[in-house]
Amino acid sequence: MSKITGVGYYVPENIVKNKDLEEIMETSDEWIQERTGIKERRWVNDSKTSTSLMGTYAAENAIKDAGLKNADIDFIIFSTLSPDYYFPGSGVLLQRNLGINEVGALDVRNQCSGFLYSLSIADQYIKSGMYRNILVVGSEIHSGGLDKTSRGRAVSVIFGDGAGAVVLSSSKSSSGILSTHLHSEGKYAEELALIKPATTFWIDKIIKDKTEDGTGYSPKMNGNFVFKNAVLRFEEVINEALNYSNLSSKDISLLIPHQANLRISQYIQSRLGLSNSQVFNNIMKYGNTTAASIPIALKEALDEKRLKKGDILCLAAFGSGFTWASALIRW
Ligand code: COA
Repeated sequence: MSKITGVGYYVPENIVKNKDLEEIMETSDEWIQERTGIKERRWVNDSKTSTSLMGTYAAENAIKDAGLKNADIDFIIFSTLSPDYYFPGSGVLLQRNLGINEVGALDVRNQCSGFLYSLSIADQYIKSGMYRNILVVGSEIHSGGLDKTSRGRAVSVIFGDGAGAVVLSSSKSSSGILSTHLHSEGKYAEELALIKPATTFWIDKIIKDKTEDGTGYSPKMNGNFVFKNAVLRFEEVINEALNYSNLSSKDISLLIPHQANLRISQYIQSRLGLSNSQVFNNIMKYGNTTAASIPIALKEALDEKRLKKGDILCLAAFGSGFTWASALIRW
């Protein structure tokens, strides 16, 4: 079995409340809370904090939690849509920060599903016997790339910065990952995307575009369409995981959905007939931290003693790509 043996997270200190956003764009605390459940988020406010550095802090906490040393890690998987550089990936930067030379470091680019894609990859490596302790990290700095004017309000109020990490280790116990399920639907790639700068838009073209349509480099999202697809796919992929293990939603001790929107989580909860104690949400405090949201929520759920040995934990995510995924874990 591959088992989560350590969990850690890190969020920047700077808290941005909905009221703070009212001062820089046409929005309201009431609108944001009613549509998304978000009350505040963390936004990095210094130039030293990077995606890989936040990932490093989260990773150090996870390694400590696992009772391991950095040198015990034999592979790194780093998931982010907001890497430090266009290339190289943030995985090698994290490796450098942790001082664990020459172990493999892989970057995963699957946005909100990134953590679960990474967990799935790690699971396969451990089950094949190739590695024993894999560090799986999700880290995002959204704040620097958001359009924080009224023009970008439908996107910028939702996203927050943060990092989470787990150590996945080989284990002889009956606790561990039961299954993972991954999907994508590239035909909707542009419905939630940041398409420039990238190779499709070389620098001279970008400058022309920016001056002509003023769209800049911030993410664009067809919010309604994303919402409708999210509720459908979340439910589907959770049921896929349950069916695979011949379980039903009644057997879920705790569901941690990717924190996209409180309304999405509540809708899934009602569709699956789950009680409040069976679902964990913390989007109110952090907004949508994309690849980091699940490990941050997992650590907070553990701190609140929401999981005990033998419990069935379900993780699920949906996001840009579109991609969606789930994992079922016996804790
Ligand atoms: N503050 C105030 N008003 C805002 C606003 C903001 N931050 N953002 C948008 N609005 C306005 C819109 O301009 C629109 O005004 P209009 O009716 O005058 O045109 C109105 O609010 C309704 O906009 P709409 O986009 O239809 O709202 P919605 O109910 O769909 O909620 C989202 C918007 C983004 C919260 C919602 O679509 C959503 O959560 N989608 C999924 C997003 C998601 O989960 N993304 C990540 C996937 S991992």
